[in-house]
Amino acid sequence: MADRQPSVFEPQTDLESFHTHLKKSKRVLALLGAGLSASSGLPTFRGAGGLWRSVKSTDLATPQAFARNPGLSWQFYNYRRHMSLSVEPNPAHYALAKLARKMPGFVTLSQNVDGLSQRADHPSDRLHLLHGTLFDLKCSDERCDYREENYTDPVVPALAIPADQAQPAGSVVDISDSMVALPSLTTYDLPHCPECKRNLLRPGVVWFGEALPEVVLNKAKDYLAAPENIDLIMVIGTSAQVWPAAGYIGQARARGARVCVVNMDSDAPPGGWKQGDWMFAGDAAVLVPELLKPVIG
Ligand code: OAD
Repeated sequence: MADRQPSVFEPQTDLESFHTHLKKSKRVLALLGAGLSASSGLPTFRGAGGLWRSVKSTDLATPQAFARNPGLSWQFYNYRRHMSLSVEPNPAHYALAKLARKMPGFVTLSQNVDGLSQRADHPSDRLHLLHGTLFDLKCSDERCDYREENYTDPVVPALAIPADQAQPAGSVVDISDSMVALPSLTTYDLPHCPECKRNLLRPGVVWFGEALPEVVLNKAKDYLAAPENIDLIMVIGTSAQVWPAAGYIGQARARGARVCVVNMDSDAPPGGWKQGDWMFAGDAAVLVPELLKPVIG
């Protein structure tokens, strides 16, 4: 009687076998999540740090939350813009940007809205923002097509975060803590659409229940549908729980890709581990430059 095939594969953890595969890879995808920016100092969405004033960050990322309380929604997004502008890209952002310059077949699909990959000079034609960016604003009325790029901090004066007098100059109080009072606001104080002049502007991020940008979906679709196989997908700092982003892992596998997960946790990707996968547990900021070294130096 033959031994039964194990139904669960253990991922490989050795750098050497990964380096050997990377060196002969031509078409590589990266799927990025909030864990990539964690060591820059930005909180992730789930787990510790995923609450904002006792509300789950994911519950604030909805059209309903904006309609119900646009002031609170803007406080949340203005704070995230401020935090993102206050921190720096880390070595993993730079390593991925360098790989994009060295390997023409490397494409990144990022769920991150924090602008750190862009600030690390990741080539924009190879960086597709699945969930938009905090630094695009658009009219909250879909019938008005007004959009702008906007890095003003605070986005309007009424959203200025109070200074923290107990900390060095430039520090602000932590308004993600529900014990800290929020400055009061009226709808009049919030950013308004300069085109239709009737509606509020909103952040140009994708909220739960909304479609991803069609142009980005098409870029991903074209890459996955190209006649050449995909050699590798690197899944970095994401819990891979949000779709359609998480579905790209299975789609890349179906085109021949081996999967390499880089994460603080050792959770399996959707569909479980398969033979030939890699799992590197730890901080992406440390691991990603090491993993990419044979190509980026
Ligand atoms: P999550 O907060 O769901 O997951 C972050 C992942 O990063 C977790 O798996 C952590 O274990 C891992 N992590 C934390 N620190 C890390 C580090 N230093 N190095 C490596 N990994 C680390 O964030 P996302 O997967 O990005 O969508 O969430 C996906 C989407 O859900 C977000 O884009 C956002 C959110 O709701 C929208 O807002 C539409």
